[in-house]
Amino acid sequence: MTESVLVTNELFEEVLSPLLNRFEVEVFQQDKPMPRELFKQKVEDKTGLIAMAADRVDKEIFDVAKPLRVVSTVSVGVDHIDIKAATERGIMITNTPGVLTETTADLAFALMMTAARRIGEAERYVRAGKWKIPMYRRLLGTDIHGKTLGIIGFGRIGRAVAKRAAGFGMKIVYYDIAGADETVESDLNSRFMLLDELLSTADFVSLHVPLEKSTERLIDRKKLSLMKRSAFLINTSRGRVIDERALIETLKDKRIASAALDVFETEPHLPPELLEMENVVLAPHIGSASHETRKRMAELAVENCTLALEGKKPRYLLNPEVLK
Ligand code: DGY
Repeated sequence: MTESVLVTNELFEEVLSPLLNRFEVEVFQQDKPMPRELFKQKVEDKTGLIAMAADRVDKEIFDVAKPLRVVSTVSVGVDHIDIKAATERGIMITNTPGVLTETTADLAFALMMTAARRIGEAERYVRAGKWKIPMYRRLLGTDIHGKTLGIIGFGRIGRAVAKRAAGFGMKIVYYDIAGADETVESDLNSRFMLLDELLSTADFVSLHVPLEKSTERLIDRKKLSLMKRSAFLINTSRGRVIDERALIETLKDKRIASAALDVFETEPHLPPELLEMENVVLAPHIGSASHETRKRMAELAVENCTLALEGKKPRYLLNPEVLK
């Protein structure tokens, strides 16, 4: 059987060449999500699919794509894929962990600094031509050195953020569903805390959990109410980890200092209130968006897909039970 692959984004030409040399490949040559109907039509006869985090890969797709054997997503997050339905049909699901850890941690840290030092507001101020006289007490921010950073989700990315924070002289507390990990506590000078205690202790809270049933709206109205009035919330994980409506009200009422968000509940459609507020920093889901990392993610996705279609075990297979 000839293997055929659908790639739902133009990715990088040089990264795709190993795929083009081996299989029949159809690439959606645009840097935007494939329209749903076209996606369904094009995936129908494919044995491999290289998809993006913005593509919904669900039962509807599996029902039309009968020959499909592997879905290789160019992301670490897999909340856009129905893994259970894929597994029932024997379809392998692969992702790209590891290669985006440091880049995403960089962005989380950059967002934290942007919010703390009001860099977005300051930039808007200058561009609007408002900086006419020297200033002393305007646009004052908050120091991060000496403050406590609370990291929720102490996996690869959470720990990479902790490393950066330690270098900036921050104290680190963390919460993870797996509990305390004493092996890293002394290395990263960090201390485990239960979630509620972390929220009421930290000056900065950064979210690094995957989106799953147990983490959906993990930060709801009640959890937000535990945070200090002077605290900052940073989210580079997934928008649905926060109850966005509750966050908007919390920010409007100035019950926390500020938020810095790279991800949103219904991105790229944002609630208009968020666009109006000064005490929120907004980014368009660019956690892993560096030249180097986006290329490495694409290479890994191509490798995962190639291995699967050649009958070998992909490097990052999330449902190994399909191989049995
Ligand atoms: C990821 O890898 O999950 C990123 O959020 C996708 O851009």
